Amino acid sequence: MITVTRIGKHLGAHISGVDLSRPVDDDTFAQIAKAFFDNEVAFFRNQKITPEHQVAFTRRFGTLEQHVRKESRLAEHPEILIVSNVLDDKGNAIGSQDAGRFWHSDLSYKKEPSMLSALYALEVPIKDARVLGDTSFASTTAAYDALPEDTKRRISGLKNVHSYRFYRAKNVEAQKQEQASGGRVIQEQVLSEEQLKSVPDVETPLVRTHPVTKRKGLFVNEAHTSHIVGMPPSESEKLLSELYQHIIKPEFVYTHKWQPGDLLMWDNAAVQHKATFDYDLPLRRLMYRTTVRGTAAY
Ligand SMILES: [Fe+2]
Repeated sequence: MITVTRIGKHLGAHISGVDLSRPVDDDTFAQIAKAFFDNEVAFFRNQKITPEHQVAFTRRFGTLEQHVRKESRLAEHPEILIVSNVLDDKGNAIGSQDAGRFWHSDLSYKKEPSMLSALYALEVPIKDARVLGDTSFASTTAAYDALPEDTKRRISGLKNVHSYRFYRAKNVEAQKQEQASGGRVIQEQVLSEEQLKSVPDVETPLVRTHPVTKRKGLFVNEAHTSHIVGMPPSESEKLLSELYQHIIKPEFVYTHKWQPGDLLMWDNAAVQHKATFDYDLPLRRLMYRTTVRGTAAY
């Protein structure tokens, strides 16, 4: 029997009573899946799991993705993306150092964006007894519900373009600025033209219907949305900026303070998320991510 405790106002729940290193029966899995979709973000504490356990558990939700950044995958388990600031003996980054600088949902630039992502925390940076490197999540469904009716009418039927190229350019610029102002040094992971071609731009509804809960949510984010289709650039930018500010109002946000052993899952069709880079080496952060493929937004 699992226990589900809601943490945030609109999203975020702690699920206890499950050991993910052991087989999860169908009935328990159904309860977990329901709690997950009801709460949009759900986490388990104190899990001692291997990559095999993480892959086996998250695969029950659907097909696992393999990230376009081959260099950041775990060698024996290509379904696992390493998210870490740790360097190997030669000083090379062992994983993605820079995931989640901007508010986004994972793989939203794909025709079939991710359904859910799961992060397992192996190492968490702690300074002066304070945990650093929080992850914040914002409910795009609660944000949509709270919009004035005339805004809902205005954005109904609009489409926006999600673009990995747009994101790469924006992120590289942000990396340069961060380094120029004395911040972290990030090893730029150059993507080949072939890799970039594997993720062409996607035109997708700005308001999407959740495939499971059928709730409407805002499917637009500052990392991946290049523009709104058929709108003059200045008008598009103004509307996007208003929506971005609305989505991250405090009442729609849950911020997770990590503990080693957390397995946290978020629903990419319902929330956006953003990392906090308030730590640097020698403080280490090491997480393994699995990502379940979703269906095209409608
Ligand atoms: Fe992400």
